[in-house]
Amino acid sequence: MRKILITGGAGFIGAHTAKKLIEEKYEIVIIDNLNDYYDPKLKKDRLKIFLGGLKFKFYKADISNYKQLEKIFVKHKFDCICHLAAQAGVRYSLTNPWLYEKTNIAGTLNLLELAKINKIKKFVFASSSSVYGGNNKLPFSETDSVDKPVSFYAATKKSGELLAYAYHSLYGIKACGLRFFTVYGPWGRPDMAYFKFIDLIRKNKPIEIYNHGKMKRDFTYIDDIVSGVVSAIENTFDFEIINLGNNRPEELGRLIFLLEKHFGKIAKKKYLPMQAGDVIATWANINKAKKLLNYNPATPLEEGVKKFIAWYKNYYKI
Ligand SMILES: NC(=O)c1ccc[n+]([C@@H]2O[C@H](COP(=O)([O-])OP(=O)(O)OC[C@H]3O[C@@H](n4cnc5c(N)ncnc54)[C@H](O)[C@@H]3O)[C@@H](O)[C@H]2O)c1
Repeated sequence: MRKILITGGAGFIGAHTAKKLIEEKYEIVIIDNLNDYYDPKLKKDRLKIFLGGLKFKFYKADISNYKQLEKIFVKHKFDCICHLAAQAGVRYSLTNPWLYEKTNIAGTLNLLELAKINKIKKFVFASSSSVYGGNNKLPFSETDSVDKPVSFYAATKKSGELLAYAYHSLYGIKACGLRFFTVYGPWGRPDMAYFKFIDLIRKNKPIEIYNHGKMKRDFTYIDDIVSGVVSAIENTFDFEIINLGNNRPEELGRLIFLLEKHFGKIAKKKYLPMQAGDVIATWANINKAKKLLNYNPATPLEEGVKKFIAWYKNYYKI
């Protein structure tokens, strides 16, 4: 199995996954529409600088446009689709649900349909810890019910799992859905809290802390996530849904403390109540990932934050 299509390969997780796979001598084709949900320059720089000098093929295309995808599938015979493109972010899904439906549901359906037509053996795709919604039972396990999403983003990610299962049961596509838990690290996503906080600290602006910083997240370092994605590509399952988290939830307050410590500046803080669509805590049970993917997240939050800050200072020339 050598030729892999990575959708969303100019994105945070996609670019890191592409790098690892190229280094492991896979032939990589990337599709991304480079949209402006956050600064497209960062996406272009991931391709140009982070993946600079590496061999891959890039197509600027929209996964919700079937005709565009069809042309790419005519040119390339893929052994595996690693589907990471999505309209991400919980909060924006409350104001623009249509975009989420278009990319996360129609886009995923297009790729599954093309996988069926082109007899592509494997479909590895990104789901999210957000599918666990307001579940109170912690840690979150793959066997827990995920029928009550608390955001539209979560509803679309759960829909992706359902679509993949239907294509597996109808057409035998071997699929593996990975539920990522709050991924962070160098070349990360500017719309996520850790990145927004550091931007604001740098500009001397107050950071908005919901629920008094008492929310917990199972922050997972990008290299650990990539090891799980690569393992899911290299192993073959009929159909599996697998959590990829750190199994070590930490309070937002501790994240802020570590950002301040390693950036070398104290944040101005504004405390606010909980936001609609947010959940109090996330915590991944990773026993299944350990067993099936030999997954062993090895990066403590402080080490990951240190690496993120080092990249941030270098990239933004601080
Ligand atoms: N980062 C996290 O903490 C996290 C957590 C849970 C799940 N996820 C999931 O992981 C995947 C990757 O997330 P990420 O953090 O790298 O986000 P990202 O936004 O950095 O990457 C997604 C990429 O997909 C591209 N894209 C969006 N819509 C597209 C479309 N219609 N056609 C083609 N390309 C399109 C974007 O331009 C972007 O480069 C997503 O499926 C996301 O839902 C991420």
